[in-house]
Amino acid sequence: MVTWSAPGKVFLFGEHAVVYGKPGLAMAIKPRVFVTVRKNRHPTPAKSPYIDGCFKAMGVTGSVYVNSQMPSSSGLGSSAAVTVATLSAINDEFDLDRTREEIALTAYQIERAVQKGRASPTDTYVSTIGGMVLITGQSRRKIPPQNLNLVVGNTLVSHSTAKMVELVAEGQRKFPDVMNPVMEAMGALTLSAVRNLSNPRQLGQLMNINEALLEVLGVGHPTLSKLVIASRNAGAFGAKLTGAGGGGCMIALCPKHMKGRVAAAIDACDARAFITSIDTVGARKE
Ligand code: MEV
Repeated sequence: MVTWSAPGKVFLFGEHAVVYGKPGLAMAIKPRVFVTVRKNRHPTPAKSPYIDGCFKAMGVTGSVYVNSQMPSSSGLGSSAAVTVATLSAINDEFDLDRTREEIALTAYQIERAVQKGRASPTDTYVSTIGGMVLITGQSRRKIPPQNLNLVVGNTLVSHSTAKMVELVAEGQRKFPDVMNPVMEAMGALTLSAVRNLSNPRQLGQLMNINEALLEVLGVGHPTLSKLVIASRNAGAFGAKLTGAGGGGCMIALCPKHMKGRVAAAIDACDARAFITSIDTVGARKE
């Protein structure tokens, strides 16, 4: 019997723009999902299509126990983390010798099958590898990590990534001359952010610009805006939605001593805040 865990993720910059081949920056964050797998010829009925998919992809049967500290369907990549941790645990328990890259790719294929064609290769990659990941076109690579003081605010408003991606595509089809430069600017924001990673004040300003551009794409939500404004007023360097938008979560980049104040300001808006930081490890054995 083995237990593996995998972290969630946030997009610091460039969500939606990455779908159009522009650069983006994502980061693995605490909390983690823990999955215990045990060899078993008579497996207990599967608890989720993701876990089913993992056993099928690895060609084995077993029983599984999941313990998640992460809110699901909030845009923090919880299904990717469950899938990555389950595959890693199966790989270990059955001595299958898959590399991390293979686990990340298989996890993406499972997510794509379960989510009927729409999945984020970034979610599964970041959860497997950990750290800060720069996405450029089809490639993803880890860059030197930076310790950012982040607060995540969960609006508790449910959203659909597929719908948000489709909404952006519609805007793109209707007004390509307007939307193409917006995507271009989002890509440029990511590249500026990478050059300014050790300067949180600049990063915060870039986040605020990114938030404005995401609003232009139409993926904002009144509750997200409320949390973003509350965070800035409480002393954050900058704040923006993270992930697909239309609900889900936002992030605020804060001075170290302001994290508690920003989290309290988010909680006061009837949302759920938590203080987090980078996870540099990715999937790991417990
Ligand atoms: C969703 O977390 C991020 C999007 O950019 C979709 C994707 O990257 O696949 C909206």
